[in-house]
Formats: sequence, C-alpha cells, structure tokens
Amino acid sequence: MTAVNPSTTEDPGPSVASLDTIVSLSKRRGFIFPSSEIYGGINAVWDYGPLGVELKNNVKRAWWRAMVQEREDIVGLDASIIMAPQVWVTSGHVANFTDPLVECATCRRRFRLDELPGAENLTNTEMQDPTVVDRLGLKCPVDAGPLSAPRRFNLMFKTYMGPVEEEAAQVYLRPETAQGIYVNFRNVRETSRKKLPFGIAQIGKAFRNEISPGNFVFRMREFEQMEMQYFVKPDEAARFFNEWKPRRKAWYERYGVNPARLRFRQHRPDELAHYAKEAWDVEYRFPFGWKELEGIHNRGDWDLGRHQKESGENLEYFDPATNESYVPWIVETSAGGDRAAFTFLIDAYREEEVRGEKRVVLAFNPDLAPYKVAVLPLLKKRDEIVEKCHALRDDLAKDMLAVYDDTAAIGKLYRRQDEIGTPWCVTIDVESLEDGKATVRDRDSMEQIRVDLSQVKPLIMERLAKARG
Ligand code: GAP
Repeated sequence: MTAVNPSTTEDPGPSVASLDTIVSLSKRRGFIFPSSEIYGGINAVWDYGPLGVELKNNVKRAWWRAMVQEREDIVGLDASIIMAPQVWVTSGHVANFTDPLVECATCRRRFRLDELPGAENLTNTEMQDPTVVDRLGLKCPVDAGPLSAPRRFNLMFKTYMGPVEEEAAQVYLRPETAQGIYVNFRNVRETSRKKLPFGIAQIGKAFRNEISPGNFVFRMREFEQMEMQYFVKPDEAARFFNEWKPRRKAWYERYGVNPARLRFRQHRPDELAHYAKEAWDVEYRFPFGWKELEGIHNRGDWDLGRHQKESGENLEYFDPATNESYVPWIVETSAGGDRAAFTFLIDAYREEEVRGEKRVVLAFNPDLAPYKVAVLPLLKKRDEIVEKCHALRDDLAKDMLAVYDDTAAIGKLYRRQDEIGTPWCVTIDVESLEDGKATVRDRDSMEQIRVDLSQVKPLIMERLAKARG
C-alpha cells in the first residue's frame, strides 16, 4: 500500500541487508525453527527454540510491565481462544474479515490481489471490482496463467466443537484477542471496580488463514497478539487516541529499537478495518521494506454497541460524575508478540570488525536478552575454577537466566555469547583463586573489569534494573 502521512520520509535502510541472515542465525542458534520440520515443515507456522522462547517471553513481560504493572488504570485478562460463534457474527468478522483472493487457472495457485505486481495500490472498492484483473492485465506471477476475478476469502479458521461435525457445531479460532476483552467488559469492570477511563490488556494466540503469509515470522497463520483496549467516554476518545499513539512507539524505542527505523502511517479511509474510525500503524523498516509493527485504532462504540444489541445485555457505563449512561468508546493498541520479538531481533543485529575478524552481536536491551549472563572458566581442567563457576551460576540463576559454558576457548565462548546477545560474561581464572575476583565483560563495549566475586551478582542486578528503565 502507498504510505499515507508517513512521519518520516528518509529511509535509514534496514539493520541487516538480507532476511536470510536472521533466518539462518535463528535456526543455527536455537531462536526459531520451522514447525514440524522432520515432516517437511508446515507453511507459515514456526516454533520457538530455547533462546527464542526466552526472547519472546521477555518481550511479553516487558509489554505487560508497561501496560499493566506500571499502570493503575489497566488490568489484565486471559480469555479463551474458542468463543461463542455468535461473537464473530456480531463483531463483523464473519461478514468482513476477508482478503481479496485470485486463483490461477493453470497452476491453481492462489494469491492476495493487492500483493500482485501492479495491484499494490488498489483501493478496497477497486479490489472488489470483478473486472479489475482484466482491466489491469494481471497474470499469475508464477506461470503467467490467467487469473480469476477476485473473491472475498474469509481468514478465520474453523473447527468443530463436540463429537458431531455439523454446521451447528462449527466454531472459530479467534482471529484477534480483542473480542475476548469486549465480551468480558462488564465482568471485569464490576469485579475490578474501575471507573472510566480504564483499560483491559491481554496476551494470547490468534489465528488467521492468511492467503500469502511469509517473510519468516512476520506474517504467520498462528501468532500471538498483545492487545490493550482502553474504554473511554465517547467525547474523550480522540484525546486518548492521541496519547496512546506516541506512547506505543516510544515503548519500542525504550527497549532499544532505532527510532530512525520507526514511523507512523495513517490508514486511508478506504483501507480502514470494518471496526475502525481511525487507525495508525507503527511501522518498522524491515529488510523487506516499511511494514506494520503495531496498530492503534479508534474503534468507537462499534464493538460494545453491537454486542449490547445482539446479546440483549446492558453494556453501558453509568458515569457517577455526570449521572449519564453511555456505551464506552474504545481506543485499542494492538501489537504482535511475534512481530515485536522479530523486530527486536532484527534491530539488534550488528556486524563489526574486531582485530581483523568479523564479530556478530545481538545488541539486545539486557532486559530482553535470553541469557543475562554467561559464566565461563578460563581453565576447565582446574576443578576449583569450575566449582566456583558453577556456584556463581547457581546463585545468579535464582534471579535471572544464567548459563555455564566451557566447550571452547575463551575467545570463541565470548563470540558465541555475543551472537546470541548475552549482555555480560563473567570469567573465573587462576588469579580468582588468589584474589577472589572475577572478570566481567560487557558485550557492547567489550570492556572488562575485575570485580569481587561477591559483587558480581549485585553489579549485574544493578545494570539490569538500569536497562529496564
Ligand atoms: N484487534 C485488532 C487487530 O487484530 P491487526 O492490525 O489486524 O489488528 C494487530 O493486527 C497486530 O497483530 C499487527 O500489527 C501484527 O503485529 C500482528 N499480526 C496480525 N496478523 C499477523 C500475522 N498473520 N502474523 C503475525 N502477526 C500478525
């Protein structure tokens, strides 16, 4: 899509030229693997390895801290993935959650119309025009075969609830976590005794049968969302929207994403989702271009208004300050857990030359780094050194993920930790046995300092707290 109001026009370029570099590092180091790989994989589904799960958990924790823990006006929720099917009729997803699909008559491949060369800038209205393929002379990008007229393809996954596979038993896997929040609005408000404005935050899986997933974990069919719905008085929606917009971009910057690679883009009126009155994306400069990282939406009273009407339940808010009752409006911040972790991974990537050799570093904010610290013996043949290393690692591990490694020479061990983003390495050597000190090495500056063994943990804890901000 053509950018509307991008907040910056300069292209800083990506942090890494080719996505393949990240895909291969992810596989080699245990961040992300293709799902079901021993059976040839399954398209657009990925698994997180030992380091990937730590990174993604840290991203989710950082989001929860900013959106729930640090806010008096936001509470959390964990709603189910399978909901009453009527929810998706009421929300408009059954009728409107579609992408324009075209099919090649010869190879049978299916494509999203707006991702075909020459059709990238079509408006929603144009994409529904049955003559658009002929008019633009579009052909199959694989074998140049003729393409069908576009049809609306619903992205929701369907399954059956219970032992009978009939239409009455059909349910959906949620395509967004937001609806779980709306249908719980009254329960949460009453039990938490929150007054407007207040928010409900949730992290959880969502599923979309994307026509053209891809770019590694950027667009998947099973993914996680980190969504927050902020319920406000209708005439205050614009004000809160304008507060949440910069706050969400600042969150990525707080955790180290280069501000030059972030920008806002407003959705054109014809591009807006069926529920949105106004929508802005926080975009990131991925190796494959500027793309959506997170959406901020003014959903008006679309969701609560429709759920109130269709369920017959009163979802209004009684405002004791004005003695009025009204359906709250919603300002939504909708981030992808996978897409955020992917962004932090890409943006942290650095290649440097150190003494004539290439050094690869993932310069994560320490709070997001999978391992916070690696404890390394300089001589693995000396039992006293190895014992001290294990004792230190065990003590550190009570408060953070710490790893012991003695499977290579020290230079190689440092490089290995740099490449997975471990902010600090602690080395115990022969001298440590005499003076009770260890060497603490910083990943980014490579500076080394000698510290009393008893001071290693307080030092790392202090640096971690500082990184958290
Ligand atoms: N509740 C609003 C909503 O779902 P969205 O813009 O469709 O809005 C929000 O999605 C965020 O979810 C996106 O910005 C992206 O980070 C993530 N997301 C959406 N589809 C995705 C997919 N197929 N794979 C990975 N992440 C996805």
